[in-house]
Amino acid sequence: MAEILGVLCSGRGTDLQAILDAIDRGEVEAKVAVVIADKPEAFALERARKAGIPAVLVDRKAYEGREPFEEALIAALEEAGVTLVVLAGFMRILTPLFVRHFAGRIMNIHPALLPSFPGAHAHRDVLAYGVKISGCTVHFVDEGTDSGSIIMQAAVPVLDDDTEETLSARVLAEEHRIYPQAIQLYCAGKLKVDGRIVTIRK
Ligand code: GAR
Repeated sequence: MAEILGVLCSGRGTDLQAILDAIDRGEVEAKVAVVIADKPEAFALERARKAGIPAVLVDRKAYEGREPFEEALIAALEEAGVTLVVLAGFMRILTPLFVRHFAGRIMNIHPALLPSFPGAHAHRDVLAYGVKISGCTVHFVDEGTDSGSIIMQAAVPVLDDDTEETLSARVLAEEHRIYPQAIQLYCAGKLKVDGRIVTIRK
């Protein structure tokens, strides 16, 4: 049975768009059943509507604490029959309540080469540190921050005159390439997870 994806976003949704385009091209054998954003201005909601996919706002500001907010996320994902949760620029840390509910079935993309530069300001941190190579990481989500098992990574050079904008554009092109690939590997049952170590079955 094909995987049913629920995509969680906070912003403009270019990673979401890359996944939708890859599905359209037949490169990812999955269906996106729902796109959920945590803020009303997230352009990802618009992209979902345009693609004819239910777009749901679970407004973080409407909830008193993190757990009621996450209960609402879980309810929306379960109602849509989601089997794999895909975080695509979702800028909230998920608590164990959410992570345990979908244990082993949550993926994230982070705009740096983990375990270096976790957190919400990866490009700023990369430039401030002076590393010469950055990139992106697709990983399973565990109860830590950007600490789950790594599925796939891609590297890009950091140039002397880079700004956060130029670096993020270079990294984003790689995100759009590898996130659909990683999702397809999951959908095809090709990811073998052994603790921290994820390998791709032949
Ligand atoms: C992407 O660069 C993604 O890696 C990053 O947010 C951006 C979302 O762009 N995610 C994180 O930083 C998660 N901590 P998009 O809204 O255009 O897909």
